[in-house]
Amino acid sequence: MTCDALSRDDWSMPKNARKAPEYKEKQAAPKLLAWYGKHARVLPWRARSGEAADPYAVWLSEIMLQQTTVATVGPYFMGFLKRWPTVEALAKAPQDDVMKAWAGLGYYARARNMHACAKAISSDHGGKFPEDMEGLGRLPGIGPYTAAAIAAIAFGKRATVVDGNVERVVARLFDIETPLPKAKPEIRKAAETLTPDTRAGDFAQAMMDLGATVCTPKSPACNRCPINDLCDARTNGTQGLRPARAPKKPKPARQGACFWLTRNGHVWLRRRADKGLLGGMMEVPGTPWDRSDCHRTVKKLSQTDFDWAYPHAPTTAEWRLVPGLVTHSFTHFDLELSVFTAATRKKLVPGAEGRWVPLDELHGEALPTVMRKVAAHAMPEAGPLFAKR
Ligand code: ADE
Repeated sequence: MTCDALSRDDWSMPKNARKAPEYKEKQAAPKLLAWYGKHARVLPWRARSGEAADPYAVWLSEIMLQQTTVATVGPYFMGFLKRWPTVEALAKAPQDDVMKAWAGLGYYARARNMHACAKAISSDHGGKFPEDMEGLGRLPGIGPYTAAAIAAIAFGKRATVVDGNVERVVARLFDIETPLPKAKPEIRKAAETLTPDTRAGDFAQAMMDLGATVCTPKSPACNRCPINDLCDARTNGTQGLRPARAPKKPKPARQGACFWLTRNGHVWLRRRADKGLLGGMMEVPGTPWDRSDCHRTVKKLSQTDFDWAYPHAPTTAEWRLVPGLVTHSFTHFDLELSVFTAATRKKLVPGAEGRWVPLDELHGEALPTVMRKVAAHAMPEAGPLFAKR
């Protein structure tokens, strides 16, 4: 078919008609790759034109980019690469150093799995990443998405990489009406039809960049889109409705209290259990986060709340409640924390229950963002030193 014939077909297509899928299959990849050649974002983990990709850098960036934005990841990625330039160097690092360097990126199981993966590559694979999805998928912390991304971007394998940006592009391109998350298999199948045999890594990143810069969630810039002529949602005027989403369930609210105890320029912190939420990270000791019936309703702690909280204090002291609450949103719940502060002269003995950390070294601790917020709330005069990086 000539280009003329194609454009005539396109032009004569009735509104609301889907363009034949093979039309997209043939045209989307070359158009996107040409666009990528001119408009690719310059990102620290990307190989420059003509350079081979470094699998370690690709893997590191893909692990960091799970659930985290490109802007946030940039400085962390650079910091890791500078400190641990190879997978072997990372494998040899003490776990606590890795957790400290990761602090603030969230989803801390990723950091523990990443470290386990570096060790496995170093000890079982001679420091080399497997090149195919199967081999990659057997390593800790590498799921189907990450395996596809590494196989395509680092090793040029034909693999289809579907993240949130790609989901949106594909849902619009094929005007998929099924709401997410049910639409995931349908979107994946459609995305697979577009993946070219060569340059699958560039293609994946072109789709991501298109989603991030042109085919954005709100007000997509369709006039700048290199595949707007292939887009069913554009034809049907449904861009703003895709991807369709099932209504979100409201997140449950949970509440707790924690105790900021200082002594002589130090604060008393403890380490969380290795498994579970914020596993292995440091925290300000406190109650479990299992209440859902206090602050939101009464906005102020009642005597019963104090009675509930105090047994979880690290020691008896003249505890003062800091006005206001620390709020933090986790994937499955929103947290509200009351913060009590006290200064003590007691010598609490370091051990499993906690240890004294110098306040001026707090920024280097493996403190998750919620605990940085607690620190900032307890010591507002300390300013951004303890705030989220
Ligand atoms: N998000 C996840 N992986 C990415 C990549 N390689 N480039 C841009 N954004 C991404």
